[in-house]
This record gives sequence, structure tokens and C-alpha cells, in this order.
Amino acid sequence: MPYTCAPLGSLADMTRLSAKSLLLLFLLHFSLQSPWSHGLQPGEPEARKIYIVYLGERRHEDPELVTESHHDMLASVLGSKEDALSSIVYSYKHGFSGFAARMTESQARKIRGMPGVVSVRENQIRRVHTTRSWDFLGLDYKQPNGLLAKSSFGDGIIIGVLDSGITPESPSFSDAGYGPPPSKWKGICQAGPSFPASSCNRKLIGARWYADDLDDETRAQEVLSPRDSNGHGTHTSSTAGGNIVHDVSFMGLVAGTVRGGAPRARVAMYKVCWQSCSDAAQMKAMDDAIHDGVDVLSLSIGSAGENPAAMHVVAHGIPVVYSAGNEGPIAQTVENSSPWLLTVAATTIDRAFPVVVTLGNNETFVAQSFSSKDSGDDQFYEIQSYQDEECNYRHINETMKAGSIIFCFTSNFSSPPDYGSISYMVAMKGGRGTILPYYHDGVLLQETNIFKNAPWVPIDYEMSYKIYQYNISGIKHGKPMAKISATRTTIGSSVSAPKVAVFSSRGPSPSYPGILKPDIAAPGVSILAAAPKTPPFGKDILYHFDSGTSMACPHVAGAVAVLKSLHPEWSPAALKSAIMTTALTYDNNGFPIQADGKTSKLADPFDYGAGSINPNMAADPGLIYNISASEYLKFFKCMGTGGLGAHGNCSVGKSPYVVADLNLPSIAIPDLKVTSRQTVVRTVTNVGRQQNAVYRAFFHAPAGVKMAVEPSVLAFSRGRSVLSFRVTFEATRKVQGDYMFGSLAWHDGGSHWVRIPIAVRTVIEEFYSNIY
Ligand SMILES: *[C@@H]1O[C@H](CO)[C@@H](O)[C@H](O)[C@H]1NC(C)=O
Ligand SMILES: *[C@@H]1O[C@H](CO)[C@@H](O)[C@H](O)[C@H]1NC(C)=O
Ligand SMILES: *[C@@H]1O[C@H](CO)[C@@H](O)[C@H](O)[C@H]1NC(C)=O
Ligand SMILES: *[C@@H]1O[C@H](CO)[C@@H](O)[C@H](O)[C@H]1NC(C)=O
Ligand SMILES: *[C@@H]1O[C@H](CO)[C@@H](O)[C@H](O)[C@H]1NC(C)=O
Ligand SMILES: *[C@@H]1O[C@H](CO)[C@@H](O)[C@H](O)[C@H]1NC(C)=O
Repeated sequence: MPYTCAPLGSLADMTRLSAKSLLLLFLLHFSLQSPWSHGLQPGEPEARKIYIVYLGERRHEDPELVTESHHDMLASVLGSKEDALSSIVYSYKHGFSGFAARMTESQARKIRGMPGVVSVRENQIRRVHTTRSWDFLGLDYKQPNGLLAKSSFGDGIIIGVLDSGITPESPSFSDAGYGPPPSKWKGICQAGPSFPASSCNRKLIGARWYADDLDDETRAQEVLSPRDSNGHGTHTSSTAGGNIVHDVSFMGLVAGTVRGGAPRARVAMYKVCWQSCSDAAQMKAMDDAIHDGVDVLSLSIGSAGENPAAMHVVAHGIPVVYSAGNEGPIAQTVENSSPWLLTVAATTIDRAFPVVVTLGNNETFVAQSFSSKDSGDDQFYEIQSYQDEECNYRHINETMKAGSIIFCFTSNFSSPPDYGSISYMVAMKGGRGTILPYYHDGVLLQETNIFKNAPWVPIDYEMSYKIYQYNISGIKHGKPMAKISATRTTIGSSVSAPKVAVFSSRGPSPSYPGILKPDIAAPGVSILAAAPKTPPFGKDILYHFDSGTSMACPHVAGAVAVLKSLHPEWSPAALKSAIMTTALTYDNNGFPIQADGKTSKLADPFDYGAGSINPNMAADPGLIYNISASEYLKFFKCMGTGGLGAHGNCSVGKSPYVVADLNLPSIAIPDLKVTSRQTVVRTVTNVGRQQNAVYRAFFHAPAGVKMAVEPSVLAFSRGRSVLSFRVTFEATRKVQGDYMFGSLAWHDGGSHWVRIPIAVRTVIEEFYSNIY
């Protein structure tokens, strides 16, 4: 599917700070054209595009020989070695074999037919998906016997982040108190403009950048070094592995300590995102990350998780964590849904930023604001109001009076105003505040108002209507007025959390409905983390808020780093299993976790996978669902992920969802026929302290489905630490069904509840065969 850029102000964009859209709007103003959008003009010679040639596992030990074989293969199609050398963009030679090269479609077709070629695909362009959060998760750094202390705060673990670069001067990446990098580290510090080789240190141990596939025009606009000019990569890296930094605040708001999940882990940045992130570059970065010796990879990037490189990374024992995407609450929007990945949904945390708005008639209401602590001064100002189409920054720019509060009223909540540019404009023109409707209540806009004197207050329809009525009637009492208080910060159980964020992408997986996705949820709303010192953040802003599954992903990567430090022998599947089977499905007030959408509802596995991550429990899961690299490889081939299709050996007709038997810590059956049963097999390994543990099955069958677990008791012993069981599903309703959800938990009578989520949809046979 070709990448298309979401228009500004779209739902997708809103999940990340308008700082970015502001930047685009005011600094670049749409002048940036995607280099990939140029079509072929009539009469031109056949255009050359970048194609990724994937050759599977590498055939030589020596990486240089691997690259040479790539040159030979390319030369045989392009005609000469010189042409091969000038067209090759990246050679993948460490963790797997393949290359990216510029060629014409007919040349790509020729290569596709050559022996040893698994797939040839056109390079795809992806986009990036944005601390109290760690305390909220119970990962308390002050507890002497806590998980962080036990895992030495992630010491010795290397977190690799593929993103938009990094800000090496941030206190989050200071190396004060660090010893030399772990001896296994083989990475480099690749210098470039505003990023001398000395930018890396004992904390930020490596940095590379990948620009070989960019065209000249784009290269000219970019900082060709690991320097982060966008803010995304600095934010995500500091969330996963940033230092503990005290006395941080965002303009007085949320003053306190900021830190990453594994604060003593080392960080390595692989800059693959410029204006966007290409698959060819990501594959090269993954190949290098395998070579360099990273322990976990964190990628807050759209859709690229289905490329073969990610599977090879996992096959090398490196867990790969991806964001689920920001296209929620619409179903079937989850991205990065390959089974070897940990796909992360976003939730809120127990923190809110209330402000009090008082109208001239003394009517008050509480809303949320992200403005700096002192921006609201509690003084009455005149309200200047705009309706529907009038509410755009150009019109406001032309008509607003300094010293007034700008209010927008819209009768159509499905076309919300462009918050970022309007509040920016109001602040620039000396306004005293912006009150704008936000189309969904429940979720606080993550937008940080970086303009001190003009608080920005997103409000819901009801409040919006109150102000509208007051404005209309206000004329009787003179000018309509309003005042906005300073922003406060509230934390704790008065703010119900976690809730699945409205923007978080939802299952079922459109690519693989037989794999339950997302896997897990983690904080991704209003996350405070490190910022670059570039516009629009400014010199003084070291930390800023951002929201998105992009921000949730590094939370899980940080937790994986801590767990891996504690259990270095655990496979990526074991780490994923531990995280999923211990997830929480209840919020901080003991109620089932909710999911925000058009309205709030109880969250189900398509919203949050197994639930909200609970790192403390994940350290001691009792049982794990393990998967070996070779099984992943087998399913990789079956699913045609690498475009294998024709070469694969899966009998799709006989067994369309053979993936059901992959030993995942979840079960998804998209096609349970009403006249038949389906059985899946799972295997668990006892990793608890108690070798003779006895586990009993507790399950909650999906509505309309009879479920049986056989055997229902698993008695482990010395030498019998791996046991299998079968789960059988039988539809009891004779109607075509929606997805229904259930769960299966193994309980040892003590502290272990090893729970997996289940999603089943029943289909009527005739209907089913008509469709396929
Ligand atoms: C609003 O409250 C203030 C102080 O309580 C009072 O002086 C003022 O008259 C009230 N205004 C209206 C319109 O009720
Ligand atoms: C705002 O208006 C001024 C003049 O009134 C103009 O110079 C400026 O370009 C406008 N800004 C935008 C972003 O339209
Ligand atoms: C509301 O806005 C949406 C999106 O711009 C548009 O499709 C729809 O027609 C509008 N509805 C009304 C009643 O104006
Ligand atoms: C606010 O009131 C004024 C005066 O009655 C009116 O002209 C304006 O249209 C109103 N604004 C909105 C958004 O209704
Ligand atoms: C899981 O499987 C891998 C590969 O087969 C193995 O190395 C590992 O020891 C197993 N167990 C755990 C807990 O990771
Ligand atoms: C498919 O099966 C055939 C015969 O069983 C075998 O020779 C071939 O290697 C298999 N191909 C793949 C890609 O597994």
C-alpha cells in the first residue's frame, strides 16, 4: 500500500503535537513535497525507483562476500559492475541478505525471476507515530527492593531506537557516572553536521543515519547526521532509556523527575526518519543493529513492521517493539501486526491538567489545558467568537483584536478546527487565550502550548454550547467576557486510568486476522520526555509533552530492557509472553479498563491486546509461551510476509489460518464455522521458582462459544517444565457473529495468574464459502 500523507489537522496528525504541524505550517508551509510522489511523465525514459531485493538468510559468513554477491546479481541485470555500484543504495549483510537499489520496473522484474530471490518490493515510505507514566506503572525507582533496583535499572542493556535522530546534549543522555559501553557493543558514532563524533558518550553509545535512499532535493533540506531536528526520536529514546533527571517541568507544570523505563540502559540511535521513514533505510538500520549488538529495538513507525528484517532481528534474539498506529478508534487499523513483534496500543495515565473557565455571567466550568502553569491569569477578557468556517487561522489573523480570548463554535464536530495553528496565531497576535471545541471528550489534547501568555483550552460540545448561548445573550450585559485560571496538575485515583486513548489503532489485524493484535497497551497520552533545542521547542525547553502510540512503544521497550537485564536468557517470545500474560485489565479504581471512542466502552482485546502493561508482575510470570526462531521463520514463509507466496509451502486452501497454532500468548479465530469445532494447541514453560507447580485452567468463553481446555490441570516437575494443552472452540449460536472475547488463565494457587486474551468470530459455512 503506497504511503499517502495525511492532511494537516486530520485525526492522524492530531495524535502528535501540532508543534509539528505548526512547524510545517509556518516554517515550511507545504513547500516540502514528498520526493516519492513524482510520477512518471509521458515521454520520459522508464523511471528508476528504489526496490528492495530480499534474499532470505545470508549464505556467507563474511559480510563483504555477501555484499559482493549483491553487486554481481545487480550487475548481471544492469549490465556492468559500475552501474551496479552506482545504483545500489543499501546492502543488507549481517542479519540477513538483500539489498536496496535504484532500478527500472523491468529490471526489478528480471531480478524477481532470479534464483535465490525471495521477494522484490518497491521501497515504501512510512511515518512516525508521541513522567509520571513510569510511577503509574509501578516501576518506582526509589524502592530499594523494587524491580528497577533488582535489575540494576537496566544496566548493561542496549536499547536501539529507529527514529528521527537524537539530541545528544539532553540531560537524559548525559553519561555522568557510566562506565564504558558493554563489551559486546560493536556499533559506531557516525558523525555529520552538528553531530561530531564526540556527540556519543557512555550513555548514548552509538548513532547512525541512513540517507542513501533520499533524493538530492530532500538531502539538501535535511541535517545529514544523527541530530534530531524534529523531536520525535529524542522523545521516544528518552522515554525508553533516558536518565533520571530531577527538577524538570514544562513551564512550571508537572514539576518533578523525568526518566526512562530503564534509566541505566545505554541508548543507540538509528536515524531512519527524515520527513518520513523508508523501508529500505529501516532494513539497513535493523541489519546494522543486529551487527552492533543491541538488546531491544524500539520503533514508533507506521506499517514497516511487516518487513522481513524485523523477523530476522527477532530470530537473532532481539525483541522488537512497534507502535500500533494512531488511526483509532476505527476497527482494523492496527499496523505492525507480524506475530514476532510486540505491538503497542496507547493509554492515558492518572494525571490531568484542569483549568477553571469563568464566563462574565459567573458560570464556571472545568476543562483541561496544556498551557504553562502561569499562562491563565484569572482576569476577564472580551470573548471574540467565530463560527464554523470562520474559525481558521487566516481569518482569525485578519480579524482578531489583541487582548481578547478567541472562541470557536462549530455545529459540526466531525470537522474540527486546526487547533495548533489557531492557538499559535492567537498567541502571536497578543490574544489572551483560545477556547476551541475538541471533537472527542475524555481524551485530553496532548498539544503543548508553548506560548506563555495565551492558554489554550480544548472543550467538549456541551461547554461549547454554553459559551455560545452566553455569547448570544451576553449582548444584553455588554461585551461577552471570560477568564481562564492557571493550570493545575492532578494525579491519582481521582483521574480514572488507564483508558485506551481514542487515537490508538484497533484490531483485528487487517493483514493477519488469525493473530490477535495489538498485543499490549502502555501510556501514550501527555507523556513528558526530552526535546531538541530546535524550533518550535526553543532553547529553554528541555522536555515537552507528546502523545501517540509512538510514546507508548518506548514504554514497552524500556520495560523489556529491564526484564532482559533480569532474565538475560529469555527469548523475545518469552519476554513478550511475560509482558502479555501479566497485563492488567482493571484500572486504578478497580473497574474494568475503558476505551475511548465516539463514546467510552469497556476495552476489549482489539483495543488493548492482553491489557495494560504491568512490569512488576512481568518479572515473575510463572509460565511463558515460548516460540523458537525457526518456528517464526516457518510462519514467516507461510504468511508470505516477504512476498514469498508462490515459493511458500502453505496450503492456504486447506488451512487458511494455520497461524492459529503458533504458540502465541493470545488466540484469535476469525472463522469459527457454526457446524464445526476448532482446536488450537499451546505449550507453556514453567519459569517460576517452584519446579513442582500445579496450574489449573480458569477460562471465560467468548459469548456464543463453547470452550474446553484439555488437560485442565498442568502438573510441572523437575524435568517436566514444558507442557502442552488443547483449547477447543465450538459455536453454540447458529448465526453469523461479530467478534466475541474471552480469556484463559492458568493459576498456581499462589501469586501467578497467566492470562491470555481470546477473540473468536463465528461464520456461517455457506456464507463463508461464498465470500472466499
Ligand atoms: C459574579 O460574581 C461576583 C463576585 O461574586 C459579583 O460581584 C458579580 O456581580 C457577579 N456577576 C454576575 C453577572 O452575577
Ligand atoms: C497574518 O497577517 C499578516 C498581515 O495582517 C500577514 O503579514 C501574515 O502573513 C499573516 N500570517 C499568516 C500565517 O497568514
Ligand atoms: C461536517 O464535516 C464533515 C467533514 O468535513 C463533512 O463531511 C460533513 O458533510 C459536515 N456535516 C455538516 C452537517 O455540515
Ligand atoms: C456572538 O454574539 C455576537 C453578538 O450577538 C454575534 O454577532 C456572533 O455571531 C456570536 N458568535 C457566535 C459564534 O455565535
Ligand atoms: C525459549 O526458546 C528459546 C529458543 O528455542 C530458548 O533458547 C529459551 O531458553 C526458551 N526459554 C525461555 C525462557 O526463553
Ligand atoms: C517446499 O516443499 C518442497 C517439497 O516438499 C521442498 O523441496 C521445498 O524446499 C519447500 N520450499 C520451501 C520454500 O520451504
